[in-house]
Amino acid sequence: MEYKIALIRGDGIGPEVVGEAVKVMDVVAAKYGHTFRYTDVLMGGCAIDAVGKSYPDGTAETCKACDAVLLGAVGGPKWGHSTQPEKRPETALLSIRKDLGLYANLRPATLRPALADACPLRRETAEKGIDLMMVRELTGGVYFGKRERYMTEDRGEEASDRMAYSELEIERIGRRAFELARLRGKKVSSVDKANVLETSRLWREIMHRLAKEYPDVAYEDVLVDNCAMQLVRDPSQFDVVVTENMFGDILSDEASMITGSIGLLPSASIGDTAPGLYEPIHGSAPDIAGQDKANPIATILSVAMMLRYSFQLAAEADAVERAVDAVLAEGWHTADMAGDADKLVGTVQMGRLICEKL
Ligand code: IPM
Ligand code: MG
Repeated sequence: MEYKIALIRGDGIGPEVVGEAVKVMDVVAAKYGHTFRYTDVLMGGCAIDAVGKSYPDGTAETCKACDAVLLGAVGGPKWGHSTQPEKRPETALLSIRKDLGLYANLRPATLRPALADACPLRRETAEKGIDLMMVRELTGGVYFGKRERYMTEDRGEEASDRMAYSELEIERIGRRAFELARLRGKKVSSVDKANVLETSRLWREIMHRLAKEYPDVAYEDVLVDNCAMQLVRDPSQFDVVVTENMFGDILSDEASMITGSIGLLPSASIGDTAPGLYEPIHGSAPDIAGQDKANPIATILSVAMMLRYSFQLAAEADAVERAVDAVLAEGWHTADMAGDADKLVGTVQMGRLICEKL
C-alpha cells in the first residue's frame, strides 16, 4: 500500500528525531512492501523565521491531503512569548489540533522491561509495572476558551482564561476512553476536579452515563490532585486515564517521568477523520539541539502508533516496538537515560541500531 505522510520537523531537536524516524519508516516500507511518500510542512519557530508566522497559510490543507502527520517538536526560547499569536510557535500546535479535529490525545506511559532500573520510584513499586494510557481531551477547555486582559478600577490589571466543556466534547472523549479500555485492561479512571469546578461536575455526570453503557469496563472517579499523588504512589493501579486538556497536559508529563525518561514516550492525536497526528511528548529541547544527543525513541514509537492507528498495520507496529525493546534490552541508551557509559550512543547511532534490529 501507499501512504502519504506530512512531516513537520519543526524546531530544536525536532529535525534530528524525525530524521531517524524516517529511516525507520523506510526500513518498514522495504521489509513489508509499502510505499511512504513524505511531504515536508513548515510550522513552528522555523516558520516564523522563514515566513513571519508559526502557522503558515495552507498548513492544515497540506496535512489534510495526507494520511497521517508526524511532528517532531515546535518552539524554543528564541521565539519567546510574543504578544502576537502568529509569532508564537505554540499557536501553531493549538491551531493544527483544532483544524484537524484532533480531540483525543493518547499518551501511553509504559515502563519497558529493560528500564525497570531507570524508574525513579521505589523498586517494589516499579516491579508492579506501569502500563497506562492517558487519554487527554485536546481541543477544548481552558486551552481554547476566551482570553482577556483588562484594567479594573481598584485591583490593577486583570487577566482571564475561560474554561468551558460541552456535553458533546465530553461524551466523544469518554467513548474513546471506554473503547480503548475494552482493548486493554478494561478499567477507566476519569480525572476531574468536581469538588470545585462546574466543568468537572458536567464531565463526571457524562462519564457516569457512559459507564453504564460499558458494564464490562470498571470505572472510577479520581480527583486530579489525588491522581497526581497516586501516579507516584502506585501507578500500576491505572489502565486508561481520561481527563480534560490541562489536567492531561500536566499529568502526562508526570506519567512520562516515572517510566524512566520523557525521551521515550510517543503520542497520537486523533479525531473522527484522518489524518491523525503523531508526535513525541517531549518538547524541542533547544539546549541539546544539533548535538546528536536527542533520544529518537519517542518519535520512533510515535511511528509505531501511526502504523497501528492510522494505517491499521499492527504487525509492522509490533515490529518497530520489538526492535526498540531489543535495542534497550542490550543496554543501549541516549544521554537522557540511565545506563553504562560504554553503551551511551547519540541520536543517529540509536536510529541505526533500531533499523538494524528491524
Ligand atoms: C504538550 C505541550 C503543549 C501543550 C504546549 C507546547 C502548547 O506541552 O503537547 O503537552 O500544552 O499541549
Ligand atoms: Mg505538555
